[in-house]
Amino acid sequence: MKGIVLAGGSGTRLFPLTLATSKQLLAVYNKPMVYYPLSVLMLAGVRDILIISTPSAIPDMRSLLGDGSKLGLNLSYAVQNEPRGIADAFLIGARHIDGDDTALVLGDNLFHGSGFPELLRGARDSLDGCTLFGCPVPDPERYGIGEVDSAGVLLSIEEKPSRPRSDKAITGLYLYDGAVVDIARGLSPSPRGELEVTDVNRAYLERGRARLIELGRGQRWYDCGTHDSLLAASRYVQSMEKRRGERVACLEEIALQMGFIDAEACYRLGAGMRQSAYGRHLTEIASSMGGALRHDSAA
Ligand code: DAU
Repeated sequence: MKGIVLAGGSGTRLFPLTLATSKQLLAVYNKPMVYYPLSVLMLAGVRDILIISTPSAIPDMRSLLGDGSKLGLNLSYAVQNEPRGIADAFLIGARHIDGDDTALVLGDNLFHGSGFPELLRGARDSLDGCTLFGCPVPDPERYGIGEVDSAGVLLSIEEKPSRPRSDKAITGLYLYDGAVVDIARGLSPSPRGELEVTDVNRAYLERGRARLIELGRGQRWYDCGTHDSLLAASRYVQSMEKRRGERVACLEEIALQMGFIDAEACYRLGAGMRQSAYGRHLTEIASSMGGALRHDSAA
């Protein structure tokens, strides 16, 4: 499965924060926002990932994440010159996708919670067409909304409906089979001039090949697109990390857990940031797995 992080757009709802900085490089507590969606793809076992962003943000994304090899990933970059819609990601990423299954995650979405990695991997392994992830929200008119029947079968999908038929937001994580590029190529722009991901999802629904998985009770989702949701996401990460002692979207730790890098490599990455609690956490977990021993004897 290939991965795409869509991290463009103009972030106008976050002005003036985003007047000079890309939204996806803003802090969510102690990490750049883009770490969170990237962590989702890594937890799904996806290593070949395209990051799509604006011409001005790509150099900063590259200097932050490089070619991904430090994390055992293969990262590439592509520019979206104008925000032409979320489904434009499949046109920009057509060569990267190359007929494979694809996971698309929006660059401002945070997912976390117990059992989430297992839910993700189960969805990946059982993908047949398109899999969406739903989460109840108090303000459904802000999101893509999925309506399901009592048996959990997806009935309809609407983008930001003024009269929502349910409270189930379709989150910014989408799994598709190889047909997604052709479906996106066949779309017409919406009245707001964008290629809408909701139209892609509807095309799968019409073929009877769209499924909605609801996030479980202990699982959280944030779309960090407004000042309040950005702050709420930061507070959530702070409380997980400070009170529960659980790191959220610690990419090097995930790379280690997933077997993408070894303990020695993780130790080295942590040692380079040991002035921060984040770096020290990495050296500690790597040491507990023998990473420091080999590193120190090599030094
Ligand atoms: O967060 C989930 C919601 O994301 C879904 O429920 C909606 O169905 C979906 O349309 C989307 O709604 P938003 O109003 O949050 O979309 P927004 O235009 O803010 O774009 C979401 C992210 O994608 C944002 O980080 C910017 C990026 N983006 C967006 C567009 C339209 C791009 O990189 N390029 C684009 O052309």
